[in-house]
Amino acid sequence: MTQETKPNFDVEKIKSKKEAKVAIKKLSDAIHHHNYRYYILDSPVITDSEYDRFLLQLQELEEKFPKLKIATSPTQQIGGAPREELGFVTHPIPMVSLKTVYDEAVVRSFDETVRSDLGISEVEYVAEPKFDGLAVELVYEKGNLVVASTRGDGTTGENVTANIKTIKEVPLVLMSHEGTSPPGNLVVRGEVYMSYARFNELNKKREEEGESRFANPRNAAAGSLRQLDSTVTAKRTLQIFLYGVAEATGYSFKTQWEALHTLPKWGFKVNTKHARICKGIDEALDYHREVDEKRDDLPYEIDGVVFKVNDIADQERLGMRARDPRWAIAYKFKARQATTQLLDITVQVGRTGRLTPVAELATVNIGGVEVSRASLHNLSEIERKDIRIGDTVVVERAGDVIPQVVGPIEAKRSGSEKVFKMPKSCPVCGGEISITSDKRSATCMNSLCPAQLRRSITHFVSRGGMDIEGFGHKRVEQIIDAGLISSFASIYSLTVEDLSNLERFGERSAQGLVDEIAKSKNQPFHRLLFGMGIPLVGSQTAKVLAREFGSMEKLMEAQLFELLQIDSVGPEVAQSISQFFADENVRNTISELTLAGLTMTAEEETSTEQTFAGMTFVFTGTLTKLKRNEAASLVEKMGGKISSSVSKKTTYVVAGPGAGSKLKKAQQLGVTVLTEDEFADLIK
Ligand code: IVH
Repeated sequence: MTQETKPNFDVEKIKSKKEAKVAIKKLSDAIHHHNYRYYILDSPVITDSEYDRFLLQLQELEEKFPKLKIATSPTQQIGGAPREELGFVTHPIPMVSLKTVYDEAVVRSFDETVRSDLGISEVEYVAEPKFDGLAVELVYEKGNLVVASTRGDGTTGENVTANIKTIKEVPLVLMSHEGTSPPGNLVVRGEVYMSYARFNELNKKREEEGESRFANPRNAAAGSLRQLDSTVTAKRTLQIFLYGVAEATGYSFKTQWEALHTLPKWGFKVNTKHARICKGIDEALDYHREVDEKRDDLPYEIDGVVFKVNDIADQERLGMRARDPRWAIAYKFKARQATTQLLDITVQVGRTGRLTPVAELATVNIGGVEVSRASLHNLSEIERKDIRIGDTVVVERAGDVIPQVVGPIEAKRSGSEKVFKMPKSCPVCGGEISITSDKRSATCMNSLCPAQLRRSITHFVSRGGMDIEGFGHKRVEQIIDAGLISSFASIYSLTVEDLSNLERFGERSAQGLVDEIAKSKNQPFHRLLFGMGIPLVGSQTAKVLAREFGSMEKLMEAQLFELLQIDSVGPEVAQSISQFFADENVRNTISELTLAGLTMTAEEETSTEQTFAGMTFVFTGTLTKLKRNEAASLVEKMGGKISSSVSKKTTYVVAGPGAGSKLKKAQQLGVTVLTEDEFADLIK
């Protein structure tokens, strides 16, 4: 143990910036090193209290010298100030998904195709567990973590950098190994997950605090990673396994196996213990069976095994299909089942008034997850499966879905089981219920139903909707409970006086909220449309509707056939829109909102000056402030063209962090390179 790995400073005595700089560097290096020993090598060499002391000293120094705090400081692992939104990141190389299969025969035919395409008789695969969490990408520059993002739609994901930094297994600074330094640019991918132990603990706590439980560890991990407040993420203790390298300047791995075994040397957590080289598909299938048997003993959820062609040159030869690679396949496990008692069937009312029957079960552990509720979907399902209250039932849990009731075990009936009936009136407001003739859908017809109101107002004011800052779900609840709002329109009659009488509201915060509410009247029409919560209408469809119909008036009067003429609107969506606007309550709400002064028409698309006519743009690296497709459509709107490769004809290359070969080529050809900020200026 060298002195460097156990630094000790008397923070009180450090007065100059120069001294502080040295101390901060030593403490940071030591903490990074001990993180690596603890989280990656699993062999700590100091006690927890020593570790805590380093962190405390570092924190104190950074407080004293705030300018010396850097983005990769280990203190980032505690989380930082909440953000308003996560923002987006364009992946330097698209993040594709995997073809998923449940059937051995399909895996065999995958292998046949691979063999015939490569013209070889036996393929070497790497088999890895398929971790059930969410995919992330980490970008390192000069050894420092600069951006982390979720997969999103594969092209653009959410920026979760601050949250990722709270995962102790993620190195903020890469390690050098045996004299070889890590690549200058590195883009790696992996899965963020939550252990069963942490998941059950979290759910228990949420239940005690009256919050809803997460359905599975995957949802819990996703919810935790997408927090706006990274101190919340830090408390959730997420974990990560890296499983792929997308870019590594100066390194070209020959095999997936080599990549997997190099990552830990730079400080990454890789599940090498359960990765296996399999010669031929039979060995791979054997391994799948072996892992399936073992999976209950693992402390985290896996939902299958991924087979990847080991040789990277072969991977490149095989190439891609539209959305997934030809060189890999995910062979999933069958859903796990358990039997338990169906104690009761309750009915939940959703934001759109839809009633969903829910199975209340005697708690049962299904593969590590405590299950006490399961969805029964609708009355038709319950009747079809003949599920009765008091039955012993088979419950199934597949990794990423809400637990389901498969059906009753009829042999176990005593005769005292009761047939479930949909309530005649809404369990929350007593309002009238309408049930479709096929019994697949039941809806509370009272759009002022409190159960709907909370959810619908929270949705209305949310980021995707009217985006009223400072109007989170707690405040919505508080203001509804105080009887101050009972509809969308009544939000716009709230006064400073109303609010400042409430708990946790001062004059200033009341004024702040009232101002934000007033500001939201100018939000574009499509946000109002989305915020109103038309069933099946997401923000994308809302935009299309706003553009096509131009105003609330025209949309309200649209006939079914007119709605169906729109490309992205199918019969179900059209039906839903038309039903929504036929509701008298909805029409009254719209009149009230019009009176309140909300925007009821879409802005005319103003013809933009064709400033970029004749110019060609190439985007490369990670964009952190704009989505790549948004940036591209801005360029196109202004008359420019987008290209994916750099040539002499390229006018500008816009390069974000992680830019590699295209940036180099631009420099070689003397093409002007812009940073993201310079691009933003140009657009202005
Ligand atoms: S490789 C081109 N390996 O499964 C291959 N994915 O649809 C890209 N996943 O959400 C993925 N464990 O995050 C790979 N060992 C593993 C994995 C894995 C879990 C997830 C991945 C994505 C999904 C693929």
